[in-house]
Order: sequence, then C-alpha cells, then structure tokens
Amino acid sequence: MNIKTKVLFISFFLLTTFLQAQEKRKTLPIIPAPALATITKGEFTLNSNCMLLINDAILVQEANYLNNYLLSNYGYQLAISTSFIKPKKGNYISLELVQTENKIEEKYELTVSKKAIVIKANANSGIFYGLQSFIQLLPFEPKESLKITCCAIQDYPRYEWRGMHLDCSRHFFPASFIKKYIDMLAMYKMNVFHWHLTDDQGWRIEIKQYPKLTEIGAWRKGSMAGAYDDNKFDNVRYGGFYTQNEINEIVAYASMNHITIVPEIEMPGHALAALAAYPEYSCSGKPCEVGMKWGVETNVFCPTEETFTFLGNILDEVISLFPGKYIHIGGDEVLKDEWNKSAFCLNLMKEKNLKDAHELQSYFITRIEKIVNAKGRMIIGWDEILEGGLAPNAAVMSWRGTEGGIAAAKQQHYVVMSPGSHCYFDHYQGNPETEPHAIGGFTPLEKVYSYEPTPDTLNAEEAKYILGAQANVWTEYITTTDQVEYMAMPRMAALAEVVWSKKENKNYDDFFLRIKLQQDRLNRLGINYSKTAFNEKKK
Ligand code: ACM
Repeated sequence: MNIKTKVLFISFFLLTTFLQAQEKRKTLPIIPAPALATITKGEFTLNSNCMLLINDAILVQEANYLNNYLLSNYGYQLAISTSFIKPKKGNYISLELVQTENKIEEKYELTVSKKAIVIKANANSGIFYGLQSFIQLLPFEPKESLKITCCAIQDYPRYEWRGMHLDCSRHFFPASFIKKYIDMLAMYKMNVFHWHLTDDQGWRIEIKQYPKLTEIGAWRKGSMAGAYDDNKFDNVRYGGFYTQNEINEIVAYASMNHITIVPEIEMPGHALAALAAYPEYSCSGKPCEVGMKWGVETNVFCPTEETFTFLGNILDEVISLFPGKYIHIGGDEVLKDEWNKSAFCLNLMKEKNLKDAHELQSYFITRIEKIVNAKGRMIIGWDEILEGGLAPNAAVMSWRGTEGGIAAAKQQHYVVMSPGSHCYFDHYQGNPETEPHAIGGFTPLEKVYSYEPTPDTLNAEEAKYILGAQANVWTEYITTTDQVEYMAMPRMAALAEVVWSKKENKNYDDFFLRIKLQQDRLNRLGINYSKTAFNEKKK
C-alpha cells in the first residue's frame, strides 16, 4: 500500500466510523423513550404484501390491533399467519411470545431489520407495547411503501401504575369519547384509567338496585357559567350516565388496550348527587338537589348501618362491572359539619371510642374497606384517608402534595403520586390571558416532565411502595371532549415518560424534539393537543 492509498484508506475508515457514530446518536421518535435503543443500518419497507406472523394463537388480539391501525390509517391490512413459517421471499412482521428468565410482562424487544420486524415478549402486554413503539416509527406517507429505520430496542416500564384520570361528573363525556381517551393512553403506554364516576354534580353509573341514582342523580338543573367568582348559572338541565352495557363494552375495550379501569365512587363526601336521589343516607335526611355549583358540599353520607348496606350494594355492582384490583372510594374533602352536629354521629363516636370526626372518617373508610376486601379487591383513596388513621390495607393517592404519599409509604401502604403541583391537568399550561378559562394553577409541559414520583426522603424499602404516578383531569371548566384532549395533550406524553422511561434516560430537550415530531401524528389521528404547550419557553 503506498502512502496515498494508506491516507485514503484511513480517511475512509474514520469517515465511516464517524457516520456510524452519528447514526447511533440519532434518537428514535418514540415516546416514552425506550430503556435501550440503537439505530442500525438500513430500512424496512412495509406494504400490504407483508406477512404478519404470530407464534401463539393468543396473539391474534395484538395482530388484529395492528391490522385495525393499518386499515384506518393506510387502507390495508396484513395477512395473519399462525403457522409461523417465515417467508423466504418478502418482508414480514413477527410477534413472538417467548419464555425468558425475567418474566416482566410489559417488557419487550423490538428489532427492525431490512427483512423483518420482530417483537418478542413474555406476555401479550409486552407485545402490545412493542407494537406501540413500532407504530410510532411508521411514517404516514407514502401509504403503500412505508420506510422504517432499522433499529434494536429493549424496553420495559419504570413504574407499574401509569395513570390518567377523567372527571365525568362535572361534565359528562359519551362512551365513544371514553374509548378515544383509552386510545390516547394506550399510545403512550399508560395502563390505568381512573374513571371519576360520581360527585356532587352528577352520578354517572347505572346501578340496577338503585335506579334513582341515575333517574335523579345524573341530572342537574344547571351549571356554573364562567368563572367561579362570577357566581353565574346557565339554568340549562345537564346530565347523562353510562349504562352497564356501555361500561361492559368500555371495560372490554380497555382490556384489549392493556388498560385497567379504576372506577371511583366518591364517599363519604362529594356525594350530593347520590343524596339527591336517596336523602335518607344523609345525617339530616332532608331532601336536596344535585349540585350546580363547583366546590365542596357539607351534605355527606351519614355512617349508619343503612348507609353501609346501601354503599355495599352499590359496590357489589361496581365490582361485578370492573375486574381490576383497585376500587377508588374517594375520601377527599369531607366536611365534618353535619357529623359534628348529628346526635347519631356523636353517639357513634362515643360508642366506638373515636376521639373526633377524623377518626369517624377512618371508621367509615375501614367499614367500606372490609366490604371491598371481602370481594377480593382493594381500596384506594385520596390522601385525606390518612387522617384519623389509615384503613389496614388501603392504598393512597397523594394529591395535596407528596406528604400524604410519603407518610403512607412509610406505613407500608401502596401509593400513587398525583400532586397538584405537577399532575393536575386542569391547570393552565400557557398564559392564562390567552388560554381557555381553566381552574387556575400553572403546570406547563416542562414542569410535568420534571416530575420525579419517588421522593428522595424515602429509603429503598419504603420507595417500593410507590406504585407510580397519575395525572388528573377535573372538568369543572372543561366542557367538551375537544377541550379534554387539549388539556391532556401533550402533557400526558410528558407524564408517560416520567412513569415509563428510565430516570437516567430523561432529557427534556430530547423529549421536546420528539413531541414536536409527533405533532403531525396527533393531527392525523384527530387529537386536539395544545399548541400553546409548544410555545412555552424552557424555564
Ligand atoms: C381532589 O382534587 N379533590 C382529589
């Protein structure tokens, strides 16, 4: 080799190494960021001739999911083969259940090579998450020859509770929208939908034993119009509820999307709609109306045996509708005025040796927990259920900051973090002067992204009790499905990365780049995300 050839050879080698390193440095546009992802050489081409192989009939559900996505976005489906013979000619996608030592169900491996896309996992949920990543790699054009960058991904979630809540009491959203909301959660690998079904302003779930809950409790005479301080009402009858048939359909739909629904039945407070239907379960027994004004009501359930029978019967129906482990029993913002002036309550406190109304609340929740536990389920409640003593097996949803969650974890109770500071998506995400009217607060995209669900004050043992985190979408000032989407997105994508991605992989600038790249995807999928969120400058 002469010197000239040598120089040429070395230059070529250096250039190739540099280009390969550059290639590796590129991030894939996937949200939440995978645990490990490498871009490799080349592209896979997807078209309608591609085979879709599954190595177990149980994966037909995931294969159909992919086909439905392809059909609605590209107009074609792939032929599914269960014989699992890899074609000699032509590209294929292979979904494979595998037995690995570490049986993390949500973990998956996704390999894109020129010839094949292979997704491997221990369980259907892992395959489903592999598909979600794959779908995010798909361009929208050209429809018949989609180019996908070759890559290798190994991925698994950081937390087991990756939640989104929706308040369907203050405003009611139809069953069709609940399915769309579930689609949005699934896209970002969220796995819990906390469905807030009852509150002062409306009872939204059909209960066969107590038809007045929806005949009366699902309807109010009017709603607050405009800002709270204006104290104005529209006097337009408002309401709606989900039938048990609709709920069965939604639960099945959620399950196909690997999402567990946690229904919330509020007690002992936020119960005015139920008490409008059945006033005999309040302390005064006086007739009342479904709430029109937002806020907190003094009228709450009275802790009588009749109330526990009533709530027990309701919970029986709720439990038969929702197969998940947790039933949310509310427990927040219980004003004690009625209890403190009720002869029955004062007597009960004396009889049960309860020193105050907080302990009476704890007695209430513990009674309810027994009913739920007897059916093989667990209760979760807002952090006020710590006051007066936690029920023995209760999990806590920490919303008034993180202190409640920390206290519960130290008592070895499971915790879902949902502090108002970072996880309330009813707060403003941009300048209040130009944003649609919201309840208040300021929780821009970057603030959500910066959230760390495991407080550093917990030791490693205590930290195991943090199940994950969740964002809440309260709807006093969110009246349409479009606005729900606007408030949820793109903040949900930021939260998804908080609860799924490895802490050391988090990088806001990189996330911002990826979420910007996804704007086109959101537009095409008809999701009304906030544009303002993209204008907020990094603080
Ligand atoms: C809540 O925001 N009242 C839980």
